[in-house]
Amino acid sequence: MSFPDGFVWGAAAASYQIEGGAYDDGKGLSVWDMMCRQPGKIREGNTGEVSCDHYHRYREDIGLMKKIGLKAYRLSISWPRVLPDGVGKVNGKGLAFYDQLIDALLENGIQPWVTLFHWDYPYSLYTRGGWLNRNSSDWFAEYTEVIVRKLSDRVSHWLTLNEPQCFIGSGHQTGEHAPGLRLGFSDVLLAAHNALLAHGKAVQTIRAYSKTEPTIGVAPVGVVKIPATNAHRDIEAARTDMFSIKFKDCSNNTWFADPMILGNYPEDGLKLFEKEMPAFLSDDMTTICQPLDFYGANIYGGQIVASDCQEETKVIKNPDGPPLTSMQWPVMPEALYWGPKFLYERYKLPIVVTENGMANCDWIHRDGKVHDVQRIDFIARYLSEYKRAINDGVAAQGYFLWSIIDNFEWAHGYKQRFGIIFVNYATGERTLKDSAYWYKEVISSNGNML
Ligand code: FCB
Repeated sequence: MSFPDGFVWGAAAASYQIEGGAYDDGKGLSVWDMMCRQPGKIREGNTGEVSCDHYHRYREDIGLMKKIGLKAYRLSISWPRVLPDGVGKVNGKGLAFYDQLIDALLENGIQPWVTLFHWDYPYSLYTRGGWLNRNSSDWFAEYTEVIVRKLSDRVSHWLTLNEPQCFIGSGHQTGEHAPGLRLGFSDVLLAAHNALLAHGKAVQTIRAYSKTEPTIGVAPVGVVKIPATNAHRDIEAARTDMFSIKFKDCSNNTWFADPMILGNYPEDGLKLFEKEMPAFLSDDMTTICQPLDFYGANIYGGQIVASDCQEETKVIKNPDGPPLTSMQWPVMPEALYWGPKFLYERYKLPIVVTENGMANCDWIHRDGKVHDVQRIDFIARYLSEYKRAINDGVAAQGYFLWSIIDNFEWAHGYKQRFGIIFVNYATGERTLKDSAYWYKEVISSNGNML
């Protein structure tokens, strides 16, 4: 058994992480531009002002994608590059950048998958309350309409929000991500609710204005629970744990996905958050829950769970000295079996792994090459597990490696290298890593070489 015919082999990146050109051609400021100006927020004072300079070097980057044989590229659009104030006047030059980017991808036989929001929120709207303002969902719909009218003759694959768990949780509750707020939990829930509304309105907008038949998804993230053994009770414990809410934060799988796909907030969350739950309009859920075509799963790792025989679940500690990536994230390939399986069973949408990959301690070796053998082993192990899930009946349509190119890893700055293309940030020079050549073979064999 193998990956299905037409399986989409891709790689991903996000606007703020690779584009640079932070002040070029009339772009407005984003909350990440402002975050980077705050002393102590980003490692070594790094910023995304130049980054990979993809804004100016995108043709070269697309040439490298073609060399790798990439079938699809998941990119995101910088909202303030297109609408400097978030709403109102469109910046023609900013929109032209994405227009040309899409053309260049298509000329090279690469299918664009466009994420509308991967965290670079317009600063101007932030000063008007940002996600706390109920109008934020209408602002997002207005922006979505501009993009869809311009690009949907050539783009048919869309993602609304990337990881609401992160931009709400890390951005509005713990403060490590932009806009760096540490709000009380009721405000966090309010921001989350408005982001959910924005998702729903964006889906409606894409369907209303798209010039081609759209395929729409969303890319949440959440910890995948891995059963300690194949015993039925451990599998049930892992499943239950993966879809339960135990803490007053956003780090769970259901608070965002249940409303978007099942049309209700999960009961256990409603109970736990009872005191903080904001009032919302009765038909909000109808707006939030729109038909979707796929579930975009961002999966990096997982947590091992066992049943302790009293209807309780117990998290099992990893053995000492576990394999770790340079983010210190444990390598847990089974996450790409159990994640897609549990998510498919619950939400009944085809799965697309929209992010998976690792940060590695890469440098250019004496022979001029980047021998990232750990990354090759990591991807091979994860893909084998994904294949096993597909063979066990999970409908899966694609896989996007994070990331096509080294980039600005948010608060970690440039310390962490996630790319299969190496970037020398002093010169901008790109070098394909060994994993890029290896991934090329994976793609051309439709995963059969694994
Ligand atoms: C995800 C983000 C992505 C990148 C990877 C490593 O949470 O969506 O932008 O930072 O992690």
